[in-house]
Amino acid sequence: MRTTSPDLRVDLCRVRLPNPLVLASGILGTSAQLLERVARCGAGAVTTKSCGPVPRTGHPNPTVIDWGHGLINAVGLPNPGVEAEVEIIAVARELLAPLGVPLIASIFADTVAGFAAVAERISAARPDLIEINISCPNVAAELGRPFALDAVSAAQVTAAVRAATELPIIVKLSPNVTDIVAIARAVEGAGADAIAAINTLGPGMVIDVESGRPILANRVGGVSGPAIRPIAVRCVYDICTAVNVPVVGIGGVSCGRDAVEMLMAGATAVGVGSAVYRGGPEVFGRIRDELAEWMSAHGYTSLSDFRGIAHER
Ligand SMILES: Cc1cc2nc3c(=O)[nH]c(=O)nc-3n(C[C@H](O)[C@H](O)[C@H](O)COP(=O)(O)O)c2cc1C
Repeated sequence: MRTTSPDLRVDLCRVRLPNPLVLASGILGTSAQLLERVARCGAGAVTTKSCGPVPRTGHPNPTVIDWGHGLINAVGLPNPGVEAEVEIIAVARELLAPLGVPLIASIFADTVAGFAAVAERISAARPDLIEINISCPNVAAELGRPFALDAVSAAQVTAAVRAATELPIIVKLSPNVTDIVAIARAVEGAGADAIAAINTLGPGMVIDVESGRPILANRVGGVSGPAIRPIAVRCVYDICTAVNVPVVGIGGVSCGRDAVEMLMAGATAVGVGSAVYRGGPEVFGRIRDELAEWMSAHGYTSLSDFRGIAHER
């Protein structure tokens, strides 16, 4: 008997992904060659490390710890600045085009005008989508309170970027708010084509009990990985009840069943970050195959067969 494999393709803002798994920003997305490697390993789209207006060194080491149930990081948005990033994106586009894997350019800034300027400049390199990182929790001391923490600021950034580019824009939200639905509605109203949720949780702290000191040089950092998955799933579920734009569900996904859970919460695509840090880019092929196997075992032929079913009563 001939069995057909499930159709994993998905459209995100009119951009076709071969499967719903997206490399989350900040993990391996620092060079064109690494982005290509992740795509060859099975990612359906890849996101660059967030890039700002000017080069930034980030925080002193140690910046990332695996504390047992996930990661805590205070990398501090190191990046080469938008002028160098434009070159990286141009090369990455050439390498990714034959693979049919879209490129998402992640940007950040410390002012609304700065976001617009970076978006305009990065658009010249023609990534497929732009992701607006307004939600990094560990740079407040240098860059100010994250824009994702209130609806008015989040909408102002979204509207400014909307006016600065014709490319589809994804706004990346923070779980560190009391009402993520209000923020999601605000950015949708300001012109977001999609929402990514969630960025890291916290900040948190891990103390070395022998030395009695916080391990991260920054003392605090954003928490990610399996420990935050239930929070990410709840955020995605709530956002999907409130907006009509697609949602990229991110947070703690490390196997096919985790991806299924995000899709059942209503996500259109599924970001993977910390699992890549732990398991290398090969995790994409494994999660993709596990997702396909799970679908076959349950008689599903496409992702839309079960997307959002957790909302059904
Ligand atoms: C080491 C590290 C660096 C990160 N850097 C960025 C970044 O530059 N921009 C961003 O939007 N998110 C960044 N993130 C957040 C991830 O993209 C993701 O939203 C978060 O880690 C939750 O997903 P996960 O549990 O699969 O890692 C970073 C996460 C980690 C662990």
